[in-house]
Amino acid sequence: MYHHSSTLPLPERTPVPTFDLAIAGASGDLAIRKLFPALVQRISEGVIPDASRIVGIVRSGEAEESLKAGTAARLTEQGLRTSDVDGLLARLSYVRADVSDPASMADLSVCLDDPGRVRAFYLATPPDLFIPAARSLKSAGLLDHDSRLILEKPLGRNLASARAINDAVAEVLAESRTYRIDHYLGKETVQNLLVLRFANSLFERSWSQRDIDHVQITVAETVGLEQRADYYDRVGALRDMVQNHVLQLLCLFAMEPPNTLDADAVRDEKVRVLRALRPIQGRDVLRHTVRGQYTAGSIAGQPVPGYAEELGRDSGAETFTALRCEIDTWRWGGVPIYLRTGKRMGARCSEIAVTFKSVPHSIFRGNPDPNRLVIRVQPDDGVQLQFMMKVPGSGRLKLVPRMLDLRYDTAFGERTPDAYERLLTDVIRGDQTLFMRRDEVEAAWSFVDPIIEGWSEHYATPHRYAAGTFGPSQAVGMIERDGRSWAEPEAQG
Ligand code: BG6
Repeated sequence: MYHHSSTLPLPERTPVPTFDLAIAGASGDLAIRKLFPALVQRISEGVIPDASRIVGIVRSGEAEESLKAGTAARLTEQGLRTSDVDGLLARLSYVRADVSDPASMADLSVCLDDPGRVRAFYLATPPDLFIPAARSLKSAGLLDHDSRLILEKPLGRNLASARAINDAVAEVLAESRTYRIDHYLGKETVQNLLVLRFANSLFERSWSQRDIDHVQITVAETVGLEQRADYYDRVGALRDMVQNHVLQLLCLFAMEPPNTLDADAVRDEKVRVLRALRPIQGRDVLRHTVRGQYTAGSIAGQPVPGYAEELGRDSGAETFTALRCEIDTWRWGGVPIYLRTGKRMGARCSEIAVTFKSVPHSIFRGNPDPNRLVIRVQPDDGVQLQFMMKVPGSGRLKLVPRMLDLRYDTAFGERTPDAYERLLTDVIRGDQTLFMRRDEVEAAWSFVDPIIEGWSEHYATPHRYAAGTFGPSQAVGMIERDGRSWAEPEAQG
């Protein structure tokens, strides 16, 4: 039977109810670069009900008009249109409060006086404020049965601190009202991974150790410290990127098919992957992980300073890490999964590259290259599939690898929404699918903690790599020991 192409209804279609969103850290980088622009976009699309209010919580006594003018200037600097920014300003107010001090919340309580609307608090603050903020929102009477609390990553700096945050939050609010953001889950291609895997039967049959040789997940950035020295130097690449974004990509790639798209059905399967990751601990960290830190180099022809120069002092933090992981399940037993992420690398590129097994017997001269599937998260999001093809001609049979290249922009021709656009309205709609549940965060820390301990036990100082390359040579050595090599992403973006 012939089926017409179909468009499946997505949760996106349910209207966003009227809400009050209070943002702690409203003059910080995250609010200005991600949250406000996402709200501006959603307002200009007409998705946000007119009566909704956005309340910036600030500690300074600066007058509201001047705060609004400052925010407007910083948003238009990013290229947002004044008319769109005006839509945000019309709904934006500022309240002076210290979220960790209930005594300072009186103005906020007055402002959030309408119990008939969804009330959400976004803690766009460092994690050491999560516990005092959750407690003081509760004691100021601001958390009712339908309030939502949004926590930005990183959630703690190890399992113990993440548990302490989760316990404190659980005392004031149900898990079903707690939204832990990992913005990678809001990215289009990351969601498309679910569709690629579970709306197509083609891949599911070969999605296992039977057909897959190995997997590489790369999240490479060209940026350096970006005025975040204080935060980044205390955290490093493993905590900043692997514990959350990279492991989330791994989960979506490797999880078993959930039986529905329900938030908990999806998260149950993701957490199983995290728990099945073989621990990397003790001396194994020296064999299965690599730490790196960039030195001066050049990116896209421009010289850039090294990490220590940007920071103004020497540091032991890693700006690059690579890991060789294994998932101990029937599906994935024996399939190495190589992860790597770093700052100041040769290209900005996030992708999952799946290398299939070679043909069992080649009837051609030489061995054909294995098939590869590349799920490209950014930039140029899309999916590529590499085949062997015959070079046209009547001479000797000649084979070459060629790519089937499906790019989002050419397939859909639409602007790719920023992750926060989707995530913010999902909170208001009450859809937790794309947020991390407490057990997921804790399972991810359980995997990461022993690596950090192993590094410190064995004095694993970062190896140097020049800015503009793809990490230290030890990362190449790690994968070459297995007879494989990193797929060098194309230099784009
Ligand atoms: C953040 C990290 O979570 O993600 C940053 O703290 C990183 O260090 C950023 O630069 C990358 O996000 P994106 O969406 O630019 O890939």
